[in-house]
Amino acid sequence: KRHLISAADLSRDDAVLILDTAEEMARVADRPIKKLPTLRGRTVVNLFFEDSTRTRISFEAAAKRLSADVINFSAKGSSVSKGESLKDTALTLEAMGADAVVIRHHDSGAPHRLATSGWIGGSVINAGDGTHEHPTQALLDAFTMRRRLAGGEGDLNGRRITIVGDILHSRVARSNVHLLTTLGAEVTLVAPPTLVPVGVETWPCEVSYDLDAVVAKSDAVMMLRVQRERMNAAFFPTEREYARRYGLDGERMARMPGHAIVMHPGPMNRGMEITAEVADSPRCTAVEQVTNGVSIRMAVMYLLLGGNEPALSTPSTTST
Ligand code: CP
Repeated sequence: KRHLISAADLSRDDAVLILDTAEEMARVADRPIKKLPTLRGRTVVNLFFEDSTRTRISFEAAAKRLSADVINFSAKGSSVSKGESLKDTALTLEAMGADAVVIRHHDSGAPHRLATSGWIGGSVINAGDGTHEHPTQALLDAFTMRRRLAGGEGDLNGRRITIVGDILHSRVARSNVHLLTTLGAEVTLVAPPTLVPVGVETWPCEVSYDLDAVVAKSDAVMMLRVQRERMNAAFFPTEREYARRYGLDGERMARMPGHAIVMHPGPMNRGMEITAEVADSPRCTAVEQVTNGVSIRMAVMYLLLGGNEPALSTPSTTST
């Protein structure tokens, strides 16, 4: 494969290969010198039309650990604010020799357009498009679940994963539903009826409106940020009502099985979907997810761009 646009495009074998490769990459990160020479001489462009903290920094760290040259492009402060199109922006990057473009865009479908347009010759990696998909987030979430629930390289068959909150606007939820079910997990979505997407009955998951009934049977509970920048008042109960019915506080977390984990992709609205007590508890993997994201993004770029390099299974022979 040349691009990573959607978690729905990944077969179980593809997903397991990325997760296993990320385990190898995590071992590189544990070494005193955290670099492989795999992408030396290659150029990765981070093309961000929408704000990001974790994803942009994580792709940059991952590309640098693989020795790539990294160019960071933010639409704010660029000629996009003068009206330059995606096509002309892409042609400019192509003229500078981009081997991979990591794109975050407010429009669902922008990474697909970039990958199929012929404007650029390199690989396209979706870093989050509108309300559509965020495949590397789902991969790092699955990686975190495998480590916490299945001993690292085990599988997620039969694991019960609950995703809670603003499903309607969430590219993280959609990518996780696709990837986790491909990996054999059982996914339940919990949300207020106004924040459930039309057509959800065609998704390979259950839908519930009763968080208390579901948390007690969950191996992982993934809380989503309420994306108020994408909604109007009609979507939303009051903040207090939302937190009471769909938020995770210490009392609700105590009803989860002892081994179960709390996840959040970030950024969090502390006090809304998750209390500070839960966010800061050892059961919450939010910070660990960020660490794991670097290994996942190294694996994705290695597999898309580094095909002819020495085998990952001998990283000690490829260190610099
Ligand atoms: N999880 C995530 O995508 O965070 P950022 O928006 O900070 O990249």
